[in-house]
Amino acid sequence: MRLTTFLLPLAAAPLAIGAPEPNPVAPRAPASTGGLLSELPGILDGVQDLLSKDTINNLEIIVSGAAKLLASDNIDVLQDILTNAHSLLTKEFVDNTTTLIGDATPLVEDVSKLLGGVLGTL
Ligand SMILES: *[C@@H]1O[C@H](CO)[C@@H](O)[C@H](O)[C@H]1NC(C)=O
Repeated sequence: MRLTTFLLPLAAAPLAIGAPEPNPVAPRAPASTGGLLSELPGILDGVQDLLSKDTINNLEIIVSGAAKLLASDNIDVLQDILTNAHSLLTKEFVDNTTTLIGDATPLVEDVSKLLGGVLGTL
């Protein structure tokens, strides 16, 4: 049996995964349900527009990247980062940082003017 007999279906598989169903949108819900349910068909229409082949390919890349990030050793590291970030973000820290940025802004403007002047003389 020739090699292409095996390889051709494999090459076509990603296309089959990426292709949306011909009509995945369910019939519209009766108007009497109201609320979010009555909005659902419109939302699904919008989602269907989003499901282009390019979008699906990009989502596959993002999801496989996220899956790699969420390996078990990374989860511990991420947990540490989030815990530390959480303890950093006290009201006092945010107030201090806001003050610091406010204090630094005129300084940055002055340095910018100074650099502009220096560069103008070159
Ligand atoms: C906030 O600023 C005050 C005054 O400079 C300082 O004593 C305090 O340690 C700072 N707190 C934090 C969380 O940065």
